[in-house]
Amino acid sequence: MVPPLRLASLLLVLLLCTAGANSSSSSSSTPLTKIGNGYRLISIRETPDGGLVGHLVVNKQNNIYGPDLPHLQLFVKHETEDRLRVHITDAETQRWEVPYDLLPREQPPRLKQSIGSLGKNTIAVSEYSGSEFIFSCISDPFGFAVRRKSNGQTLFNSSADGSDPFGSLVFKDQYLEISTKLPKDASLYGLGENTQPHGIKLYPNDPYTLYTTDVSAINLNTDLYGSHPVYMDLRNNGGQPSAHAVLLLNSNGMDVVYRGTSLTYKIIGGVFDFYFFAGPTPLGVVDQYTSFIGRPAPMPYWSLGFHQCRWGYHNLSVVEDVVENYKKAKIPLDVIWNDDDHMDGKKDFTLNSNNYPRPKLLAFLDKIHSIGMKYIVIIDPGIAVNSSYGVYQRGIANDVFIKYAGEPYLAQVWPGAVNFPDFLNPKTVSWWGDEIRRFHELVPVDGLWIDMNEVSNFCSGLCKIPQGKQCPTGTGPGWICCLDCKNITKTRWDDPPYKINASGLQVPIGFKTIATSAVHYNGVLEYDAHSLYGFSQTIATHKALQGLEGKRPFILSRSTYVGSGKYAAHWTGDNQGTWENLRYSISTMINFGIFGVPMVGSDICGFYPQPTEELCNRWIEVGAFYPFSRDHANYYSPRQELYQWDSVAESARNALGMRYKLLPYLYTLNYEAHISGAPIARPLFFSFPSYIECYGLSTQFLLGSSLMVSPVLEQGKSEVKALFPPGTWYSLFDMTQTIASKEGSYVTLDAPLHVVNVHLYQNTILPMQQGGLISKEARMTPFSLVVTFPAGATEGAAKGNIFLDDDELPEMKLGNGYSTYVDFYATLTKGGVKVWSQVQESKFALGKGWYIEKITVLGLNGSGGASALEIDGSPVTGASNIELSTTEHKFLRKLEDGDDKMKAVMVEVSGLSLSVGKNFAISWKMGIKG
Ligand code: NOJ
Repeated sequence: MVPPLRLASLLLVLLLCTAGANSSSSSSSTPLTKIGNGYRLISIRETPDGGLVGHLVVNKQNNIYGPDLPHLQLFVKHETEDRLRVHITDAETQRWEVPYDLLPREQPPRLKQSIGSLGKNTIAVSEYSGSEFIFSCISDPFGFAVRRKSNGQTLFNSSADGSDPFGSLVFKDQYLEISTKLPKDASLYGLGENTQPHGIKLYPNDPYTLYTTDVSAINLNTDLYGSHPVYMDLRNNGGQPSAHAVLLLNSNGMDVVYRGTSLTYKIIGGVFDFYFFAGPTPLGVVDQYTSFIGRPAPMPYWSLGFHQCRWGYHNLSVVEDVVENYKKAKIPLDVIWNDDDHMDGKKDFTLNSNNYPRPKLLAFLDKIHSIGMKYIVIIDPGIAVNSSYGVYQRGIANDVFIKYAGEPYLAQVWPGAVNFPDFLNPKTVSWWGDEIRRFHELVPVDGLWIDMNEVSNFCSGLCKIPQGKQCPTGTGPGWICCLDCKNITKTRWDDPPYKINASGLQVPIGFKTIATSAVHYNGVLEYDAHSLYGFSQTIATHKALQGLEGKRPFILSRSTYVGSGKYAAHWTGDNQGTWENLRYSISTMINFGIFGVPMVGSDICGFYPQPTEELCNRWIEVGAFYPFSRDHANYYSPRQELYQWDSVAESARNALGMRYKLLPYLYTLNYEAHISGAPIARPLFFSFPSYIECYGLSTQFLLGSSLMVSPVLEQGKSEVKALFPPGTWYSLFDMTQTIASKEGSYVTLDAPLHVVNVHLYQNTILPMQQGGLISKEARMTPFSLVVTFPAGATEGAAKGNIFLDDDELPEMKLGNGYSTYVDFYATLTKGGVKVWSQVQESKFALGKGWYIEKITVLGLNGSGGASALEIDGSPVTGASNIELSTTEHKFLRKLEDGDDKMKAVMVEVSGLSLSVGKNFAISWKMGIKG
């Protein structure tokens, strides 16, 4: 926890000067149309709690996109030492903001009129002794800058200085605009959800439109299911890297235009509510970001296992067969899913009694639950309009639906005509909780999948149920609108003056969703709350599941917003079974880690159309290392379970086999994500922020800080050219295979069809287990530790850790009486190797056999052999079962080209029985050469 800043340290200086607020480089792009003439700051004062409040008046009215708001209030606060807030809103009327109950934060002070007359070139500077930020603003035209105190760098600068490609601040009722200058060498990440063909780094002039939309993930560079108006900015600063993030907390539709040396927000409502997070490390940024938006949800252990789903499991026998076939093929499987096939007429919370007879389903669930497997089903927000359907009747009775002209808004999704629950209404939240409770009594599901919650509608506008027409018709799913609908264009909400680039085509913002003039609880307009739909549904679903059995909830949501990660996992929606989509999945996954939603993955082998056999091989080799690993396919796709092709089954056994050995590591990463926001899957720059070569790398990723996955992402390839940052890397599959380089380098690795390259970095201790076909059984197996030192070093230190708990329980933290946390350390000196543990807490154990049976140490200098083994200070005699063995490393690349002399060995100590929950120390001498 960051201590609150001391008010006494506030320094507010008002200076008279002629220069603009500290500016960075300017751009030479063509000037844009001026849609506002800017504002001037007429007064600024301190608030009693250490904030700043300023009053802005418009310079000269400009009527493009509507009149400017005449008076604005500026509120600035150094909220913690690494978080600064800059909030600008109408000084006269309360405006829409992301609801404070959905995303708890401080309310800015109530608006008060103030009169003043600051001189034209007045600069106000605000800095706290404890804060990493300096805020400054210039009075006329108003602009503000945020600088990093430790190196003086300007991070954000909205000041117009005449040479700008963009105008000054614009604030109209339905159009807000602000720009910042950026240095050319800033690398930006984030601003999603968006399938980015150019990889993880924001690409100049690519469109970034944020508005939750059900256009499939194959649409590149368009608004997608989620809205995350946040970016991370990484600058190398000549080898002294620093990262920060900027969140614009606003739920209205927006286009963000990144031009390489500037970034412009064009937003169709709400307020400017900026939060700056100082970093300076990428991990620091996500820590600060998630401490504000909510820490990622703790995930149950089983959810890190493999998941199989598909749309079109027509009856229970098919599902039973799938489970059986996974077992026969010896491919791990933890969770079996149903799309809407189990439902009666696609209606939420129902069962089709012919195809999914309840007694048989319950017997099946008993069977899979008894071996630790889990079952998850889908729920869509659209509630079928059907007078004999209890869920609908109770919804109507409780008045839970979004309204249009006083009536529930009518839309169409899978079951036909539907109404959408309004999760901003507390009554809806209770009704939803009750429906989930009732359904759970019917079918004891282990988690829920909330889909179509952008929200997706097959129709647009104002619709009626057509007379005498069955809707939908046919056997397969129907997504053609069959209601009688008319467009609504008459209101300024349906047809706002500025058109965001919705769906990449500037379609009306109410296209295939709820009409934006529809109304939520308390008069809130869909226009404002649109992108919060999935988020509010996620919170309601989480509350419901938590209240059920007190277990840790598992929710998978398609639509997400800032803060969704606190409640749910995410998958990247309807991708295609193509090589491009396999590649895109890495960037999207990595971005979601930055968005505070670390439990993420894509449909393995692609949703639609069907993948080739080769692609499915390669996809499971990537997907086995997604934090959320699930194979899912479309209704119309042929079957693509991993056992369908022998070759895919083999790749799956290899890759998922490794995942299941890594489960204790993944679970520890899940814990770290929960306590510090650290993404489970990360871009390489998180661990190597000064290594510029990896800034845009989108074909490889890290799990945690030091496990790197370098998959094949191209058809017909049996090698992969992978980037290795400076240091030593060891293959996880064949630990003697070693790559070492001083400066970092690309290395071409063998990657035949069934091989995925995974490498472990130096100075790490990786906990592993023996794997298995279900996480519950894998979790019972003995542990091993893999310890890595830089190849051939004579001195070194490594560390690692492990977190274990009863994952059925809701909380995930130390000190609650059901967790175990152990730090592992290792040192290498001329005298030899020492590996030891420090148990911080030891409250959780599974059976007596939970012990470390093997320690493997990689990269030791010389081949003189290991001797004089001691455990807890006592020599190990030849009579014990403990064995020490030494194997020489094979180098694919050495520290320096031509360094043929370097030798290194791997030492394995096996036959151990070191209890996980007790401190141990083990050491031996090395016969070191050189
Ligand atoms: C859309 C989802 O993205 C997809 O995964 C699902 O199979 C279909 N809806 C049907 O429920």
